[in-house]
Amino acid sequence: MPRLTIAIDGPAGSGKSSVARRIAAMLEYLYLDSGAMYRALALKALRKAVPLDDESRLVALAKETHIELKPPTLEQEAAGAKNRVFLDGEDVTSEIRTAEVAQAASRLATIAKVREVLVAEQQRAGAGGGVVMEGRDIGTVVLPKAELKIFLDASPEVRAERRWKEHQEKGEKMTLAEVFDEVIERDRRDRERKVSPLVRATDAVLVDNTAMAIEETARLIVMLAREHEKKLAEVAGGQP
Ligand code: DC
Repeated sequence: MPRLTIAIDGPAGSGKSSVARRIAAMLEYLYLDSGAMYRALALKALRKAVPLDDESRLVALAKETHIELKPPTLEQEAAGAKNRVFLDGEDVTSEIRTAEVAQAASRLATIAKVREVLVAEQQRAGAGGGVVMEGRDIGTVVLPKAELKIFLDASPEVRAERRWKEHQEKGEKMTLAEVFDEVIERDRRDRERKVSPLVRATDAVLVDNTAMAIEETARLIVMLAREHEKKLAEVAGGQP
């Protein structure tokens, strides 16, 4: 069977990471969480106290930073990690999952030249097919030729509740109202920014999983992927 390139985009808490990770496992594809790269860079900026509106320093930081994504260890997976994230060789898998880092990532993601650096990395990582990549601009900018594009969405209330549960499981004391505000603010910034805003690609399938479990959503997308794989195999088989 041919191996597809699958792009999954959507707002915070839409279930992208959990769904994409499961799809990749079911199809035996590589899973790549592009948001983890923005988060890792944001963590470095916060640690070095680089102001999040200092474009030239952030671009320089992006250029000198090495971010690597790998499959998680069993222990990290049990704790909810979908990718193992290395920042200049240091494992920052759990450090990048705070609301503070998420907000900082969303802020530096508004800078075109920072995006250029990370997008080039993502395109390198995604080249060759057999990959499920998730983020905000995967179907529109990073992998515009992906054979299957999904725009995953859910109601703001459900998305905030999912994020709140994740924070609770990690023992972080944020109220549901605080998480709701964080998610809404980040969404607004991600959708309204000038460069590569979060938008549904015209050829993306819209999947609203407000009333669907993660497993069910993943199975639906795997069904779509299998259909695409079959079609591609037929086209390839029909060629002389
Ligand atoms: O997917 P996430 O919540 O981990 O992403 C964190 C932030 O990174 C998100 O608010 C916006 C930014 N991001 C982006 O601009 N483009 C992507 N492809 C992925 C993430």
